[in-house]
Amino acid sequence: MTRSIAFASLKGGVGKTTVALNCAFAFARRGARTLLVDTDLQGAIGMSLDGVSDRPGLAANLARGGPPLEGLVKTRLPELCLLPMGPVDALDEDRFAINAREANIVGRILEHSQRDFDLVLFDTPAGLGGMSRIALEEVDSVIAVAQCEPLALRAMPRLLELLARLRDIGSACSLLGVVGTMSSFRDPVLLASLEELWSLYRDQVFDTAVPRDSTFLQASRAGVPLGLLSRRPPAVSAVFDKLVAEIEERLGSDAGGEDDGPIRLVD
Ligand SMILES: Nc1ncnc2c1ncn2[C@@H]1O[C@H](COP(=O)(O)OP(=O)(O)O)[C@@H](O)[C@H]1O
Ligand SMILES: [Mg+2]
Repeated sequence: MTRSIAFASLKGGVGKTTVALNCAFAFARRGARTLLVDTDLQGAIGMSLDGVSDRPGLAANLARGGPPLEGLVKTRLPELCLLPMGPVDALDEDRFAINAREANIVGRILEHSQRDFDLVLFDTPAGLGGMSRIALEEVDSVIAVAQCEPLALRAMPRLLELLARLRDIGSACSLLGVVGTMSSFRDPVLLASLEELWSLYRDQVFDTAVPRDSTFLQASRAGVPLGLLSRRPPAVSAVFDKLVAEIEERLGSDAGGEDDGPIRLVD
């Protein structure tokens, strides 16, 4: 069964796109056939990756009314594909989410992913309306992205409330977990925010938090996931290997694709 996860937060600039992109890369490296879909009209994934921003994607598929996965971008990893947003006509922005809902574009992306993908990850824009709301209604799991700073933490209850309300009205989406981002043990305010995140959301918080690290800016400057920043990836890229292992555990055993079990070290 193909699993779907949306990365969401009410507040912008908290690291959603960074987490979605690097988790997609880490999932693919673990062997899960992964599709990363950009639902942000600003084309956040395209902006973050060299060679992707001008390609057509979800927006063009919506405008044409054709197959929802046209323009799929293959990557260096055979298990990882991207569906960027692609250029959005300025005049279409206003009604974009309305058209997307009418055309059921997110639902159709999921239907068409069943054969070729184990996981479909959605990067969403800031805010809980528009494309975020549509993605949240269609996926089976949501990962709340919480920057470890006071204002971002104050915005979290709104997302959780929306998820509860969506479930009330029949949506399947459940909160898979909360991931803290841009944390630091060295800055007392950031450390206090990380502690607050733990004390407020306890078991829902992933053990792995994404530290604040200037390497992220280098990676976005180069337009690559952290794991491709150099032949010997920076230490912080290993955070996403840990995070996706935790996510897989929460998803259950069928998330990684094929059957799994111990592998003999010596034959
Ligand atoms: N852990 C981190 N440490 C340092 N900078 C980060 C980190 N995560 C994201 N950033 C930077 O913060 C900015 C916003 O991140 P982004 O992932 O685009 O957030 P969002 O998608 O929530 O708007 C980007 O410039 C990104 O490179
Ligand atoms: Mg973003």
